[in-house]
Amino acid sequence: MAQSSMQNIAREFPVKSGVDRKDRKKLAQMLTKIVGSSHVLYAKIRGVHWNVVGPAFYSLHKMTEEQYEDLNTAIDDMAERIRAIGFSAPTGLATMMEDSIITDQTSLINANDMVQELVEDHEKMACLLRDGVGAADEVDDVKTADMLTERVGVHEEAAWMLRAIIS
Ligand SMILES: [Fe+2]
Repeated sequence: MAQSSMQNIAREFPVKSGVDRKDRKKLAQMLTKIVGSSHVLYAKIRGVHWNVVGPAFYSLHKMTEEQYEDLNTAIDDMAERIRAIGFSAPTGLATMMEDSIITDQTSLINANDMVQELVEDHEKMACLLRDGVGAADEVDDVKTADMLTERVGVHEEAAWMLRAIIS
């Protein structure tokens, strides 16, 4: 009998990578938090990209474009990593917002405040990612640790560049 399409749902895969299921599950939860937070940050960065005005318009418009494009790729890689370690990737904006450590911004605030908020958000992301590296290292998931290590640097650099613009 043909399987109904309802059964084609991403389920947990048996993975024998040398990392225990309970450890992989913990990492999947950590990655889910990172993916959710990255989604909220992505939306915030685009809000700045679209709405920024003032003397730093061009630099901020350009810089934010680079940042959200980079985040878009990273979100995809990290969500796919959750699948590769055996679990389902998050789906739905509401779920991702629930998992996010980054607070959504729904009102228009002045350019300096918007950028200041992004600086703090990038710093929060760097901290979260650093925790993720620690958790992945602890259970010898070298691939996840490697992926997240690179992201720590990206967010630290993004915070520095944005801060330099408003200094
Ligand atoms: Fe654009």
